[in-house]
Amino acid sequence: MGLLEEELIKRSLPQILKSKNNGTVQDISSWISRREEIKSLLCSEFCGRFPGIAYKTEGRQVLVEEDAYGGKAVVKTISLGIQSDYSYASFPYRLMLPKNEKRPPLFIYLAFTPEIADGIGEEILDAGYGVASVYYQDITADCYDEHQSGLGRFCTRNRFDSWGKVAMWAWGAGRILDDILKREEADADRIAILGHSRLGKAALLAGAFDERFSLTAANESGAGGAALFRGKTGEQIENLYGMGSRLWFDGNFYNYRKDLSRMPFDQHFLLSLIAPRHLYVSSAERDDWADPGSEFLSCVESSKVWNLYGEEGVISPDHFPEAGACYQEGRIGYHLRPGTHYLSRDDWRQIIAYRNRHGV
Ligand code: GCU
Repeated sequence: MGLLEEELIKRSLPQILKSKNNGTVQDISSWISRREEIKSLLCSEFCGRFPGIAYKTEGRQVLVEEDAYGGKAVVKTISLGIQSDYSYASFPYRLMLPKNEKRPPLFIYLAFTPEIADGIGEEILDAGYGVASVYYQDITADCYDEHQSGLGRFCTRNRFDSWGKVAMWAWGAGRILDDILKREEADADRIAILGHSRLGKAALLAGAFDERFSLTAANESGAGGAALFRGKTGEQIENLYGMGSRLWFDGNFYNYRKDLSRMPFDQHFLLSLIAPRHLYVSSAERDDWADPGSEFLSCVESSKVWNLYGEEGVISPDHFPEAGACYQEGRIGYHLRPGTHYLSRDDWRQIIAYRNRHGV
């Protein structure tokens, strides 16, 4: 038995390839029904339910900078409205399109600041990519607001399975995608979702539930992101239950802080929903709070679903990655950057290299 397999056995994980009635999933058709089971399990026990009502999305262009970045790009500020029969919400996003590409591949980027790509738009532009950047707090505020801001008011709330803020940030990214596809200014087959840390958690949800994203990239997403909870060091569910993050997931999820062994899923369930599309997970060596080893193992375990499709998930040597390791051959890309918790230019560069290599 290999070393990573041994590590995984120690974690006593719930099995992705065992359905509720205990049947073993061995082919794509049984996986497709298992996938639906996993989606509803995660909506009930983890992130909360996405809006189940009909809605429409409408983008209104409010500002155009024709010569942004010294004339290399056009930047549009778009006010995005989302309307149902009962509710309305809106938030702005900024779309940066390189002038020298007709329909560039794009990143939908969940940003920590209102600046495009948190200030490094020009480097992404020079690599031939466009960016739709949204300041996450414009979707819903990141504080204990009883879901009174932004998308929080879009659905009614309960203590069990109504959506948490991570799901709102993810769903907001999906509505930006609706608008991008309508605008026909980007390559519809090459739209990635990217986020860091809490927004890496949101990027994973967005990519897991919305199959229009060709690549899902989560940087240092840690607890509630790519990292397995079982056997995890650093942040635990109990920490996420702190007031700063108590509204990030649904009410049912936080109950598992008392007994993790009762939790009917672990984070490899979330990653598996992305198969057979492309996934990129990145960690930082000294990011002990997120726990790089548990992020990596989750990629290894979920690779089983890519295998069902005849694809390779993560392709790596049979041991934990060392700082500087970068595995980009498979449908799951992974790297471990030396250093601490941060979305570095080096991370962006590696993710762009992966996109170039696989044409996603
Ligand atoms: C806190 C939180 C993490 C989160 C991080 C971030 O450290 O505990 O879960 O990922 O903030 O978003 O920066």
